[in-house]
Amino acid sequence: MSTKTIGVLTSGGDCPGLNAVLRGVTRAATKRNWKVIGFRDGFEGLLPPGDFIVLDRSTTAGIMHLGGTILGTTNRGHFVAKVGEGNIVQVDPTVIAKAKSTLENLGVEGLIVVGGDGSMTTALQMHNAGIKVVGVPKTIDNDLEATAMTFGFDSAVAAVVDALDRLHTTASSHKRVMILEVMGRHAGWIALHGGLAGGADVILIPEIPYDIEKVIEVIKKRDAMGAKSTMIVIAEGAAPKGGKQYRHEVKSGEYRLGGVGEILAREITQRIDKEVRACVLGHLQRGGAPTALDRILGTRFGVKAVDLIAEGKFGFMVSYHNYQTEEVTIEQAVHRLRLVSPDAQMVQTARAVDISFGD
Ligand code: F6P
Repeated sequence: MSTKTIGVLTSGGDCPGLNAVLRGVTRAATKRNWKVIGFRDGFEGLLPPGDFIVLDRSTTAGIMHLGGTILGTTNRGHFVAKVGEGNIVQVDPTVIAKAKSTLENLGVEGLIVVGGDGSMTTALQMHNAGIKVVGVPKTIDNDLEATAMTFGFDSAVAAVVDALDRLHTTASSHKRVMILEVMGRHAGWIALHGGLAGGADVILIPEIPYDIEKVIEVIKKRDAMGAKSTMIVIAEGAAPKGGKQYRHEVKSGEYRLGGVGEILAREITQRIDKEVRACVLGHLQRGGAPTALDRILGTRFGVKAVDLIAEGKFGFMVSYHNYQTEEVTIEQAVHRLRLVSPDAQMVQTARAVDISFGD
């Protein structure tokens, strides 16, 4: 077997399962007698002279169950290719040239980029500049069209379910309406799966604009039935019919979501004499140990990325369909969001068990 050196980096927001990918990459590569360099803090580690650690069996031992990424990550810095509302910007060509020279100096013959849509946009620009790149998709939001599933999503859903289990008991003791705000950006997958598994009564997602009066109807109906509480899961990107997402501008053109739970609580208390509490789950969905499924997916994605390098399939991203890892060109994968279809089977299933979407 011919020996080679490959690189790997984790970029963008972290998510559970990244360390499983790093371990998978390292084990599969070292088995081929390859050397693995792990660049620190996303693409920033590629700036000369290169900020990296050598990944081998000992530096990746005992990391699979750890949340976060042992390499560090960032969604800021010199390599950002997507800003604000998905606007694509060209990374400074001199920055890409610097990264290329670092990789050449270290003898790296293939770079695995583990990241979300923004990081894949950067990876594509690097590929177009002649850098040998392979992508591994990552996001808790599970919103990439090119792959049926991303690791991190299952762990985020597990965090939502755990939170709902806890909120159920306190909500019913106090006979309250309890709102749990969850992540997901423009997609409602985390809210839909978490809400279904956690026994929510109302799930509000960006793809189905809600009517506050319908939410009030559910609360009243449940009160009339003698239910002790009403559990509402709201995705951070959800908005009322005819209304807008609640956004905080953080920098010119950039924004963060979050805060809709409190707004909904206020809207409910203005209309009905009930005690309402809102809880924001936030980054608890991103931190902590990955579930078994995410460890397995992360490992499979890491191994597949090494296979793609072995086959010389640069410019490709690992994807997952019908329980199999596959590949798709990064070009085909980027900028294609997968949202919840309002008539999806999962939505119908939820409606069949009397979950309201506030519509
Ligand atoms: O894309 C993953 C995600 O966790 C979203 O669900 C959320 O809106 C965003 O990242 C939060 O990003 P940050 O960690 O930069 O606040």
